[in-house]
Amino acid sequence: MTATILSNAEAAPGHYLMALAVSRRFRDARPGQFVMLRPAGRGMPFLGRPLGIYSLADYGDGAKIEILYRAAGKGTKVISTLCEGECMEILGPLGNTFELSPGMDTAVLVAGGIGIAPLVFLAEELSCRSAGTRVVAYIGARDAATLLGVDRVKVCSAEVRISTDDGSAGHRGPVTELFGRDAGSFDPARTGVFVCGPAPMLKRMSEIAAAHSLSCQVLMEERMACGMGACLGCAIEVRTPAGVEYRQVCSDGPVFDLRQIVWR
Ligand SMILES: Cc1cc2nc3c(=O)[nH]c(=O)nc-3n(C[C@H](O)[C@H](O)[C@H](O)COP(=O)(O)OP(=O)(O)OC[C@H]3O[C@@H](n4cnc5c(N)ncnc54)[C@H](O)[C@@H]3O)c2cc1C
Ligand code: FES
Repeated sequence: MTATILSNAEAAPGHYLMALAVSRRFRDARPGQFVMLRPAGRGMPFLGRPLGIYSLADYGDGAKIEILYRAAGKGTKVISTLCEGECMEILGPLGNTFELSPGMDTAVLVAGGIGIAPLVFLAEELSCRSAGTRVVAYIGARDAATLLGVDRVKVCSAEVRISTDDGSAGHRGPVTELFGRDAGSFDPARTGVFVCGPAPMLKRMSEIAAAHSLSCQVLMEERMACGMGACLGCAIEVRTPAGVEYRQVCSDGPVFDLRQIVWR
């Protein structure tokens, strides 16, 4: 499938926001799902790159999605040079979605760096859900310049708490520290925690969630080749009643119960 770039601009140093016109099937996409993207008709990157859906809207007969991404390496740097009107090869929407349990009256979103991208889509879905779901977002970044998605989350009526590593905005220190201070104030029976960020942050989040018996869903950002369960390149270890087993992030995830992930 191909998608046409509607815009692709730097949103913060090294971070880009791309809007794509996509087919009608994307109208059913849900928070947590992702796409495999590569420039059409170019040799580089050879394999698509997995990127989460940041926002979704109807667009003519089809849909418009936005992707918020960090130019991390060769593939995303090439993607960041593409312009309006150019075409992308796109696979998707792929993967499972965040689950919203009916008894949940508080949703806590915890984002580290570019981990905010899929959580913005979730905040939008939560704001359309029945009135009465309180949304609290903890957003951490390296510095104020790379703090993204805050305005989008605020539009969804979320309470927003910010941290930066250098203290240039909000609390100085890791976002896990900020969340850890409040974790005991959330009722485990009625709270869902949704998290995305770098591995050390996720490991710390799993400790905090376990200490406070909070149910916590995580979007795992593993390296991928096929995105469809065929290459076994994105395996992670999870704890199950039968012992430690492998799961494919692309086809079994990318959303998992944080407490099941085995950290090495
Ligand atoms: C389901 C899913 C959703 C994602 N959503 C987003 C998103 O919305 N926005 C965004 O900016 N990124 C997202 N990522 C991460 C993104 O896929 C990687 O940053 C990208 O594939 C790097 O490709 P590259 O060619 O630019 O870098 P490479 O040259 O391949 O690698 C550059 C650096 O990035 C690291 N890296 C490579 N692949 C990944 C990966 N999959 N996850 C984390 N680090 C990686 C490498 O270790 C290396 O340090 C997502 C990943 C997954 C699996
Ligand atoms: S990326 Fe190929 S199996 Fe997941």
